[in-house]
Amino acid sequence: MAKLKMSSTLLLLSVLLVSLAAISSPSAHPAYDDGTDSCGLVGAAPKAGPVRREVYGEGGRIIDITHFYREDMPFGEWGRVDLGQFLWLRMSMANGSLYNFSELKLPAHAGTHVDAPGHMFKDYFDAGFDIDTLDLDVLNGPALLVDVPRDKNITAEVMESLHIPRGVRRVLFRTLNTDKKLMWKKEFDTSFVGFMKDGAQWLVDNTDIKLVGIDYLSVAALVDLIPTHLVFLESREIILVEALKLENVEAGIYSLHCLPLRLRGAEGSPIRCILIK
Ligand SMILES: *[C@@H]1O[C@H](CO)[C@@H](O)[C@H](O)[C@H]1NC(C)=O
Ligand SMILES: *[C@@H]1O[C@H](CO)[C@@H](O)[C@H](O)[C@H]1NC(C)=O
Ligand SMILES: *[C@@H]1O[C@H](CO)[C@@H](O)[C@H](O)[C@H]1NC(C)=O
Repeated sequence: MAKLKMSSTLLLLSVLLVSLAAISSPSAHPAYDDGTDSCGLVGAAPKAGPVRREVYGEGGRIIDITHFYREDMPFGEWGRVDLGQFLWLRMSMANGSLYNFSELKLPAHAGTHVDAPGHMFKDYFDAGFDIDTLDLDVLNGPALLVDVPRDKNITAEVMESLHIPRGVRRVLFRTLNTDKKLMWKKEFDTSFVGFMKDGAQWLVDNTDIKLVGIDYLSVAALVDLIPTHLVFLESREIILVEALKLENVEAGIYSLHCLPLRLRGAEGSPIRCILIK
């Protein structure tokens, strides 16, 4: 440390940052250690660790429906079954740096994420229909959380049986994927439930739904992966939010708030979604 040369401005800045951190660090929380260390990095969480929450506010009025990123989260691309390491320290206090400083490398379709029209349409990708063009008005507003029959993929017949009224613009579909806790398993499960092409077509033709949310990594069942995405994304009016955490939430109407990263040129992005009662 003594060897470090710093400009006085930088020194001032670090002093400022340190005091800011001291001011804003929560001290009133009942301290307990849930055994999770924040990012799977070396060095266990201190005994008086942070409180991890799935709900916030009075009466649990805010529900986090985003999965936290884990190395052993399922991910079925590039011959990988799980996500693997995505976060590491570039600078660390343990190595004599003045601060810990991590770097992140995440596939754009890992964990809870959103698809842009360019995901499956080459022309849309080339024309720039990327994450930064997604309509925040669609991503934020009243939403319906529904349970679908557990014995089928989401076909036209299933869609019809749900009787989702016209005027409903945002629907989160809870499926067998949640019951089977698929997002909590390391191995990517190819038998996950999703939309079949005819289910997607039925939704497009007979509902006003512009946001489709689902509880595994793809809105489309694997057997109908590409055709289903094409049906959904063709109009560029429907936004697909995938791998939502829909456990321990009652079916019903909520205010949904989803914000992707502002990634230009990307056809997918991590997204934080919450429900407000
Ligand atoms: C810190 O040092 C350890 C071993 O001393 C090394 O494994 C690690 O990569 C270093 N990390 C950084 C960020 O330099
Ligand atoms: C990060 O900073 C803390 C001090 O706040 C230090 O104890 C710890 O060793 C650092 N972590 C790593 C992995 O270097
Ligand atoms: C849904 O489709 C997948 C193939 O994509 C299949 O393996 C699975 O059994 C189907 N699920 C149900 C509940 O029918």
